[in-house]
Amino acid sequence: MMSTKIDQQAIQIMTDNDRGGFTVPTAGLYPYQWNWDSAFVALGFAQFDLPRAWQEIETLVTAQWDNGMIPHIVFRQEAAGYFPGPKVWQADKGPISSSGISQPPVIASVICKLLVQSSDDFSTNKAALLFEKINSFHQWWHDARDIENTGLIKITHPWESGRDNLPDWDEAYIDIDTSQVGEYQRNDTQHVNSDMRPTKAHYDCYLALVQHGVSCDWDAQQIARTNPFWVADVGVNAIFIRAEKDLLKLALMLKKDAFVSKIESRIALLEKGFERLWNSEKQAYCTLNLRTNHHSHHINSATFLCFYAGVGSQAQRQAQLQLLDKWQQKVNHMVPSFDPYDPLYDELRYWRGPVWGIVNYMIGTGLANEGEEQWAEVVQRHTAKLISEEGFAEYFSADNGTGCGGGTFSWTAAIWLNWANQAS
Ligand code: DGY
Repeated sequence: MMSTKIDQQAIQIMTDNDRGGFTVPTAGLYPYQWNWDSAFVALGFAQFDLPRAWQEIETLVTAQWDNGMIPHIVFRQEAAGYFPGPKVWQADKGPISSSGISQPPVIASVICKLLVQSSDDFSTNKAALLFEKINSFHQWWHDARDIENTGLIKITHPWESGRDNLPDWDEAYIDIDTSQVGEYQRNDTQHVNSDMRPTKAHYDCYLALVQHGVSCDWDAQQIARTNPFWVADVGVNAIFIRAEKDLLKLALMLKKDAFVSKIESRIALLEKGFERLWNSEKQAYCTLNLRTNHHSHHINSATFLCFYAGVGSQAQRQAQLQLLDKWQQKVNHMVPSFDPYDPLYDELRYWRGPVWGIVNYMIGTGLANEGEEQWAEVVQRHTAKLISEEGFAEYFSADNGTGCGGGTFSWTAAIWLNWANQAS
């Protein structure tokens, strides 16, 4: 099946970024194991080396903390040239050195997809061994990031959304005191043009939040009560609802009957919470800042993940399809990460506009699952065109398609292999 030149290039990138049991997102810029990167990478490996796909998930999960959290970065090996590294995080709570926060919980959905694509004994055993660990990871999100038990998951750091500099966060920075951050040397801008990376002012906020976590000794309850950033992100919530539904499917496939009703009630709670993200004025799902109770008036591409999560009324879904149509009239390449009509849209700057393959994969998958085949095909075709014309960039300009950020990117290669190369 893996016959085209582009397929071979994708395999080569993943092989080159393999550090022996785990894969770096790209050499240089990101020299460790990242949580959701690794999960997506497993989808790519599954197309040419199934044992290696399972191994990617297994190594990630070995970094799980006792409280269930699977961290966003696992500092698995010495690597010079990344900032902020383990000494800044001071988060030695897990079996392996790591950061102190998590990342969008896509692991259950990836495991479910691996099992559906290959349900032999080998994969079934692998999934069965991982199941309870992923269940405690999910329980951690409820316990640590929804202490009020409202069904809305909050994030404590922009990095926890995986979408670092989304304009939605700008207004939530106001209460962050950056006066103690001090001098520091960034490394990201040594690898990538600074126009494509977060600004210094935003980086100061990121570091102030890390310092706050350190001051709480990374105690989740204390962070939940005191963190200046406590925000419900549409992306994390939609991804988590999907992950809980996929975990339920796994429980049924693997005959883990004892977990079924608990997962079902968690799903019901989350679906109810998600309704609060609906901004009727904008006719979209928008960020909700739980420190100020303020609904963002910006729209980002996570609103289209309502299909992936399988939520929303007929009218809400219809409004999202109209919005997709409106965005397509404005940009050449779908789906921009942020509203291209918003004055804060920024063609090149990371999550403030560019197109990301993994987000397109989730949007496209959700649309296809919910019967919106035509739109699903548009999103898949646009992704395939960007990758085949621009290569395996970290992300792409929605205006002229230019590949941006890091090159030879593992998750772009993985998404190509498991999804985009099937575009019609
Ligand atoms: C970075 O260093 O830019 C990462 O996105 C943090 O996860």
